Amino acid sequence: MTPGPAGLWFGGDYNPEQWDEKAGVQDDTLMREAGVNSATVGVFSWSVLEPEEGRYEFGWLDDLLDRLHSNGVRVVLATPTASPPPWFTLAHPDAMPVTRDGTQLWHGSRDTYCAAAPAYRAAAQRIAAALADRYRGHPALAMWHVHNEYGTVCWCDHAAAAFRAWLQRRHGTGREGLAALNEAWGTTFWSQRYSSWEQVLPPRATQWRANPSHSLDYRRFWSDELLASFCEQRDAIRRHTPDIPVTTNFILADFQVVDFWAWSRAVDVVAIDHYLGSAGPDSHPDIAFGADRARSWNGGRPWILMEQSTSLIYQRDRILIKEPGRMLRDSVGYLARGSDSVMFFQWRASQAGAELFHPAMLPHAGPDTRVFREVCELGRVVSQLGEIAGSTVSADVALLWDSDSWWAMEDRGIPLTDVRYLDLLRADHAALWRAGVVCDFVHPEADLARYRLVFAPGAYLISDEGAQALRSYVEAGGNVVMSFGGGMVDSSHHARPGGYPGELRDVFGIRVEEFRPLPPAGTVALTGGNQGTVWSEELRCGGAEVLASYAEGPLAGHPAVTRNSFGAGAAWYVSTHLAAEARDRLFARVLAEVGTGPVARGGAPGVEIVRRHGDGGRSWLFVLNHTPAPAVIEVSGVELLSGRQAAGQLEVPPGGVAVVREPPVG
Ligand code: GLA
Repeated sequence: MTPGPAGLWFGGDYNPEQWDEKAGVQDDTLMREAGVNSATVGVFSWSVLEPEEGRYEFGWLDDLLDRLHSNGVRVVLATPTASPPPWFTLAHPDAMPVTRDGTQLWHGSRDTYCAAAPAYRAAAQRIAAALADRYRGHPALAMWHVHNEYGTVCWCDHAAAAFRAWLQRRHGTGREGLAALNEAWGTTFWSQRYSSWEQVLPPRATQWRANPSHSLDYRRFWSDELLASFCEQRDAIRRHTPDIPVTTNFILADFQVVDFWAWSRAVDVVAIDHYLGSAGPDSHPDIAFGADRARSWNGGRPWILMEQSTSLIYQRDRILIKEPGRMLRDSVGYLARGSDSVMFFQWRASQAGAELFHPAMLPHAGPDTRVFREVCELGRVVSQLGEIAGSTVSADVALLWDSDSWWAMEDRGIPLTDVRYLDLLRADHAALWRAGVVCDFVHPEADLARYRLVFAPGAYLISDEGAQALRSYVEAGGNVVMSFGGGMVDSSHHARPGGYPGELRDVFGIRVEEFRPLPPAGTVALTGGNQGTVWSEELRCGGAEVLASYAEGPLAGHPAVTRNSFGAGAAWYVSTHLAAEARDRLFARVLAEVGTGPVARGGAPGVEIVRRHGDGGRSWLFVLNHTPAPAVIEVSGVELLSGRQAAGQLEVPPGGVAVVREPPVG
């Protein structure tokens, strides 16, 4: 079953067990006022639902589902397994997570569980099955939300046993399997050769640098172990409610514990939680960066924005306010890129607990507030846009996204230590955003043929299969732009011999002979007035054309940016981290050469334009004006938020949005 969400969903996490009944009555009224049609309930309710092992208290949840249903609110019902209750710790101390350095954690926060511990897995399945059994057939139940933001990693003995079993599935069992493991991990280096499986442990704290091949396999294993835990709950639920979609909320933060491609295949619909990292103009492309990934993971189908925040943005330890209008614009930004929902953490601000000052749709100060008024306005906008539900976004440009490369690149002890995978992807994605180009993300081993142009930033690790896919793609007429450090290692995290990018040297017509990371904050001038930062490389051209060279330092006169014709396609290589202006210039040239470009011509900087397509030739043009000046765009159709006919030109106010239903094509 692969259902999309039905209609547009508007609402958020709802935890009324934290308040008395009077608050519930007010919630009903205010949810109606705000146009809330969805509520995620029970996310952290385990200790209330099962106060003692095996004794359930469902009465309050029965009442809640009935109440929400009679108020016209559909329910996303969570399994509470991200936060086992205190009784669980004492009954099963071995199921608590153990850190890399051997510290056992205790309850007192959340996410205190080891997904490899049999007692945890059994308890999680039990409560999931009990909930599914209880609420099957309930008319409010619209979707299952298993767990919350899977991400806890453990290094305990249960994890060690599960890791060995995973390794045996990957590398084989017995002596032969062990030989394959020794080979894959390069254990001859530093006397790490294993002579029996019992010696194989998680990459626990050790004296100095750990073996990167070992660490990479542990990351892969842990993603799979968490996924197995998710799938057990999903399957237990499906036995009771086979027709209700099951999802879990992916957290898009700066850490990555799970492989979102593999997880996306296991959920019925992709749901993300997206909290921005900064408040300034640099954060505008970040909405698109989250949304484009969610849409791609969901195979292009409409996806769910499960959580965002109404008024605050985390920036390291500080918390910044979203200025008036920003929440609406951000929300429409997600809708523009294929979300069929606008949901928040959370409906009513908690008065106690670790997130007592976390923003909410209904703040501590109550409904007579700017935030609640903006929530009500957003609710009206979402209902005015109902007709876009189910429509999709198309792109002919893609960026590679690969957990293996992220995990490998951010290991310690490799020369790219100061380079963050996400920063590299953000830089390319933001340049495309500035150019008005909507792009997908794609796995390197996927069929790339449907894209005219593929960017490969942060592709430090490229598997043999990935290299083959890129080669065939370019050979058949595809175009690829790879950034520095590409293809340095294979899927075992072994260096590619003969110069980088390994098997792809002839595709790019270059050979990277030596890398030369720049000092912190260092820059290097390139010809044509361009500048690089972070990294430089000594390249030898074997057929590629030089588009820019280093203009100073030890590499002066050496190629920096190249282009190679290969088969029917072309491959560009960028050996340094280009500054934004230089990147924009290069991308404009590449886009023009491959014959693709922005969604709409004539857009001004800071004015984002995206199109969703429906069946029967229908389409909607979304315009987000991130600038402080009015934006005038060329468009015809009905602007849905004002109901006005746009005949040729439409003015979008500073910081405002417009959604135009275009005349159907064909
Ligand atoms: C996550 C969680 C929520 C809440 C928010 C805070 O997304 O799912 O429970 O902690 O972060 O921003």
